[in-house]
Amino acid sequence: MKNDTPLLKTIAEKFGTPTYVYDLDRIKDQYRSFQDAFPWPSLKIFYAMKANYNICVLTTLKDLGAGIDAVSPGDLYMAISCGFDPSNIIYTANNMKETEMDEVMETGVLMNIDSLSRLEKYAKRYPCTRICLRFNPDVVDGEHDKIKTGGDLTKFGILLEDVAKVKKITTQYDIKVVGLHEHTGSGLIKPDSILTAMERIMSIATRDNFPDLTFLDFGGGFKVAYGPDEVPVDYKEMGARVVDRFSRFIHTYGRHLELRFEPGKYLTAQAGRLLVEVNTIKHNRNRTICGTDSGFPQLIRPMFYDAYHKIENISNPDGKAFVYDICGNICETGDLFAKDRLLPQIRENDLLSIQDAGAYCYAMGGTYNLRPMPAEVVVKNKKVSLSRRRLTSRQLIDLICSESADINHV
Ligand code: LLP
Repeated sequence: MKNDTPLLKTIAEKFGTPTYVYDLDRIKDQYRSFQDAFPWPSLKIFYAMKANYNICVLTTLKDLGAGIDAVSPGDLYMAISCGFDPSNIIYTANNMKETEMDEVMETGVLMNIDSLSRLEKYAKRYPCTRICLRFNPDVVDGEHDKIKTGGDLTKFGILLEDVAKVKKITTQYDIKVVGLHEHTGSGLIKPDSILTAMERIMSIATRDNFPDLTFLDFGGGFKVAYGPDEVPVDYKEMGARVVDRFSRFIHTYGRHLELRFEPGKYLTAQAGRLLVEVNTIKHNRNRTICGTDSGFPQLIRPMFYDAYHKIENISNPDGKAFVYDICGNICETGDLFAKDRLLPQIRENDLLSIQDAGAYCYAMGGTYNLRPMPAEVVVKNKKVSLSRRRLTSRQLIDLICSESADINHV
């Protein structure tokens, strides 16, 4: 959506604020550029739907041929009801209980198991089946400590040195390991992390250890440039090195394997924005506070990860610049979208667009303070459609009451 200010103003007028806007054409471009960057003949992209489970986003990616990385039964049912075939979904379990394992197995998707304890329980209950195994690559990277998933300080994956224990269980119960998986972290900062993690997985992916492999899955984590000074990663260059290394590995393994990735942010982050309206400007001694009609439960990344999101004042793009704290409408001091941000003069009733809000924004949202989630609008070929409505406060409360026990019986 280039030169999109008039369109965004129309969207805000028609659907009100706060509203998320997703550019589906941008998601398609991101998908195709990922395919181009990793030219492996059987490359498979399993979209990490935890990033954004909007139905239009999911169907856009399904139509492009993506599979799904699912992490909960909810993810699974959503993906299946959007038309993804179970054979195109991988289920990456973490701290799963028995009932969840059975629920997942009923759908027929491939289970990705990340602990010896779960492997043993799975094997006893589902002998003679196929699985994928998640290993901890012992590589530490990610754009915030909370989202690094490799190394000793994380809870994920089977240790590389536990391969013999894995083999004992899989042999005893005749389990075929068809895939090996790792995910190092989200927003990988070091250029070589993916390659190092690949090395670690390939070092255990021998014919002797795992003779039945059909794929290796190196997770997601492909960083996008959120900050103004961040240099975008050259994925073409990275992809060429990955494909070169993988083809040498295939030569050693002796059979062609699929190369799988699970990008979330890369596909959707830059395709989304949150439109908010300014309702209060407050001059507090040396701070200017700009109060908006959304808050951290509706876009938590700045508060939770100190994440930077660009902000545009689409009502006054050429105004003289001033420094603002861009705040929400929630009862906590940390309820900020940006601190000390230089922006064209903001006036009450101006519209702000919080950029790069297509991944882990709506999806991590909630209704704290009993404020309904924003609406979601999609744009495809310049055509604007409402994808998910914003409940009124009254509707939200009616929904909560309808789910609650009758208080006369408590
Ligand atoms: N595969 C697995 C097993 C994962 O756990 C994740 C993300 C992905 C793939 C996709 O990672 P991505 O390509 O999106 O970086 N809420 C955080 C990000 C959490 C990521 C969790 N797992 C954020 O807003 O930065």
